[in-house]
Amino acid sequence: MPMTVMPVYGTRPEAIKMAPIVQGLDAADGIDCVPVVTGQHREMLDQVNGVFGIVPKVDLDIFAHGQGLEAVTARTLERLTPVLVEHRPDVVVVQGDTTSALAAGLAAFYRKIPVVHVEAGLRTASIASPFPEEGNRRLLTQITSLHLAPTPVSRDNLLRNGVAREDIVVTGNTVIDALLDVTSRPRPFDVPSLARAQEPGRRVVLVTSHRRESWGDPMRRTARAVARLAVERPETLFVLPLHANPLVREIFVPVLGSIPNVLLTDALSYTDFATLTALAEVVLTDSGGVQEEAPSLGKPVLVLREDTERPEAVEAGTARLVGTDEDLIVREVGLLLDDRAAYEEMANAINPYGDGRAAARTVAAIEALLGLGERLPDFAG
Ligand code: UD1
Ligand code: UDP
Repeated sequence: MPMTVMPVYGTRPEAIKMAPIVQGLDAADGIDCVPVVTGQHREMLDQVNGVFGIVPKVDLDIFAHGQGLEAVTARTLERLTPVLVEHRPDVVVVQGDTTSALAAGLAAFYRKIPVVHVEAGLRTASIASPFPEEGNRRLLTQITSLHLAPTPVSRDNLLRNGVAREDIVVTGNTVIDALLDVTSRPRPFDVPSLARAQEPGRRVVLVTSHRRESWGDPMRRTARAVARLAVERPETLFVLPLHANPLVREIFVPVLGSIPNVLLTDALSYTDFATLTALAEVVLTDSGGVQEEAPSLGKPVLVLREDTERPEAVEAGTARLVGTDEDLIVREVGLLLDDRAAYEEMANAINPYGDGRAAARTVAAIEALLGLGERLPDFAG
């Protein structure tokens, strides 16, 4: 009788980071993998599952226009519970710090099903920032049986929180597995307008912003900084793939929509986004996943936040916290585009977040939890 492992996820970054794990579990002997999606995101989630050829067994389909965190949480709990009763998973696997992850972990906890937390142990100094993610991941730590820390830094955070050493495995981040997978299979862009990024002599700056703490004025300041940079530098193409949240579009389109060397697109497929990151000279982002991917492609990252739960690249010198001060963004991007030495200092390809074997370590750790095998040695960072 195979053991049932149920990964549950709901947003774009969870889908990307869970994909190599789902593939690994599917290939494992003695495991029946039952992927469940909450549908917290809709198009962006389906887009990622499509890229990796994953067809969820259950779709909780909780998305409804205008609903807030409470409704996303409540609907996930209500709709996941009967699925847990029907499939009786031996473990539930959740990833990261989203509302889907916390609600799915809680549903499993209430059914006394062990929770495996992927990307465990990221921390900032304040539970209020990022909101609600920092709270979500701290709460998940309390109800998790097996903590899969991406790096030694996150392992140490868990140890400081009182988690037992034997309940932690350092795996590396599966986003690096996903990135290496798609970049090893180069493909022409799905979105034809991105061909502009490949014109000879074109310089490319990639910009993404979506986080709750960026909504409103911080995001508007980022938009204005990009507008100033674009007007000053007509040879450089500023590409902004816009998150599906309409608030993001409402801010960026009025400020940037009519500048010829700014390209605003819908959220891109993971393959297009990875290809674009590889073409870019500089990445400007408030995204967690993008902060992890860009260093492995040797791209300097300017982080549009006041703090980060991903200090590894900052410490290694390839990422810098710039916040959302308009003048500072203009100055820092200008420095990287104009000063070769400053650029070279930041443009080192490093992999503090993973080595492409995170999913293998994750699957082995789950097998060990289920009594089906042995753990692999930790990722050393
Ligand atoms: C979510 C995650 C965030 C992650 C991001 C990745 C949470 C709290 N946030 O942020 O950690 O970085 O995905 O892209 O899980 N909306 C609806 N109906 C819904 C869901 C969303 O109308 O069912 C609208 C609402 O206006 C909501 C907005 O979309 O305020 C944002 O969606 P939400 O999923 O809460 O947060 P994201 O910004 O996508
Ligand atoms: N990404 C993508 N298409 C885009 C923008 C981002 O596939 O248009 C990918 C990116 O490569 C990274 C992930 O989405 O792996 C990050 O997701 P997001 O920024 O939404 O969330 P976060 O990582 O901040 O939680």
